[in-house]
Amino acid sequence: MKNQNQVFTPKVFGPSIQGLVTVLYYILFFAIGLTFGIIITFHSKNFSFNLQLTQFSLSTSSFSPAPPLSFWSSLASHSSVNTTLESRIGLQEYLKPPKLMHDMNDDELLWRASMAPYRKEFPGAKPTPKIAFMFLIKNNVSFAPLWEKFFKGSEGLYSIYVHSDPSYNQSESESSLFRGRRIPSKVVEWGNANMIEAERRLLANALLDFSNKRFVLLSESCIPLYNFSTLYSYLMNSSQNFVEAYDLNHPVGRGRYSQDMYPVIKLADWRKGSQWFQIDRLLAIQVISDTTYITMFQKHCKGLCYSDEHYLPTLVSTKYWRRNSNRTLTWVNWSRGGPHPSRYSDTDATEEFLQKMRTEKQCKYNGNITNICYMFARKFSPSALDRLLTLAPTVMHIKT
Ligand SMILES: *[C@@H]1O[C@H](CO)[C@@H](O)[C@H](O)[C@H]1NC(C)=O
Ligand SMILES: *[C@@H]1O[C@H](CO)[C@@H](O)[C@H](O)[C@H]1NC(C)=O
Ligand SMILES: *[C@@H]1O[C@H](CO)[C@@H](O)[C@H](O)[C@H]1NC(C)=O
Ligand SMILES: *[C@@H]1O[C@H](CO)[C@@H](O)[C@H](O)[C@H]1NC(C)=O
Ligand SMILES: *[C@@H]1O[C@H](CO)[C@@H](O)[C@H](O)[C@H]1NC(C)=O
Ligand SMILES: *[C@@H]1O[C@H](CO)[C@@H](O)[C@H](O)[C@H]1NC(C)=O
Ligand SMILES: *[C@@H]1O[C@H](CO)[C@@H](O)[C@H](O)[C@H]1NC(C)=O
Ligand SMILES: *[C@@H]1O[C@H](CO)[C@@H](O)[C@H](O)[C@H]1NC(C)=O
Repeated sequence: MKNQNQVFTPKVFGPSIQGLVTVLYYILFFAIGLTFGIIITFHSKNFSFNLQLTQFSLSTSSFSPAPPLSFWSSLASHSSVNTTLESRIGLQEYLKPPKLMHDMNDDELLWRASMAPYRKEFPGAKPTPKIAFMFLIKNNVSFAPLWEKFFKGSEGLYSIYVHSDPSYNQSESESSLFRGRRIPSKVVEWGNANMIEAERRLLANALLDFSNKRFVLLSESCIPLYNFSTLYSYLMNSSQNFVEAYDLNHPVGRGRYSQDMYPVIKLADWRKGSQWFQIDRLLAIQVISDTTYITMFQKHCKGLCYSDEHYLPTLVSTKYWRRNSNRTLTWVNWSRGGPHPSRYSDTDATEEFLQKMRTEKQCKYNGNITNICYMFARKFSPSALDRLLTLAPTVMHIKT
């Protein structure tokens, strides 16, 4: 192979061939210059083919003429990107909670709210996680003064959403935390499927704020049993969701199952549980993204079926049971029997009763036994407000 290497060295072929190689080098050099020149002229002269051969001499000046300024400015004006700072597409704008009142219909809202980032790592400092308090009520929040004391001092760690009857037209007082927190609402009837539609509407609206990480559904007769900081730790540190779900072989349990739901929902999958849940962002997205179970309930859970007591328990127990505690954080007393739980008024609101609700029961929290099982309680009558306000600092450690 030594010989082949030598074949192409100019020495072997003598001076005349050496001259030829030199000429070839010049031609190659010229061709490169020509190409560069054509490209540059092509841009700077707006597609004109008026090539001037004098530009393509072998002198270096033809290699680096800067495109005229008009070239760059024409590029900028042809582009649709508005380069002023205000209108740049950035992350900050996207992360701002949108206005509560919007013009999306339910389908548009649910679709938009179901969008979730696929990347786990947040670029930069993470927004402080918030709890979304979603009040599903008829008129106003009966215990608004108690809730306002509960929220005081925890600004930035919570957001409030209110779904109330469209006919309710009173406005909250100027200073109320509930003022302007109403979402576009529709009529809700007790036991009707529009109740679970309202729950999903609340979830979807709350999901539009990326910093909401836990979602709590509350009624007008709900009260807090612990202060905000205790609740915040309890929810944020929990590895589980709180959707009560149990199988009840009874007319008010399995008896409410409709054979028409088969085979989408089987009798063995049918669950019952409290409507009042506390769930995380992932489950909230999974719930509002469901189109199969909700259709079954809208079609076949009517009359004495009470979809709000079965939709979430059945959906979560069938598809998302792995992270569910199967219990709710909202205390209630059903022992009296009948369609409504016990309702408590002013004389019931005693320190003993509140302590009982706070610590009486034992349950599991992140796998450990605890006696802190309930964060909220119902049902309380508005008449209990004053006594609860008095007991709040000592019993619930809610600073006033
Ligand atoms: C670019 O954005 C600014 C500020 O938002 C606006 O005033 C301007 O009209 C916009 N320009 C164009 C070309 O859209
Ligand atoms: C709720 O509305 C009722 C009737 O309008 C009123 O009596 C009550 O004071 C209101 N409660 C709050 C907390 O605003
Ligand atoms: C609120 O609604 C009631 C009836 O539902 C009506 O009589 C009243 O005028 C309304 N008030 C306002 C301020 O619109
Ligand atoms: C979670 O619990 C740990 C200790 O168990 C505590 O230090 C931390 O503050 C809690 N997290 C939240 C968000 O409260
Ligand atoms: C909750 O219920 C589901 C389905 O019935 C069950 O598989 C799961 O083990 C239960 N979880 C807990 C924590 O009890
Ligand atoms: C539930 O209510 C019944 C009466 O309706 C009462 O006897 C029972 O003590 C109550 N349970 C609790 C835990 O308060
Ligand atoms: C739960 O119990 C385990 C050991 O039994 C303990 O290491 C852990 O700290 C406990 N967690 C909480 C939140 O108490
Ligand atoms: C909240 O209540 C707990 C007891 O449940 C207490 O230790 C804590 O100091 C209270 N937090 C605030 C901010 O008052």
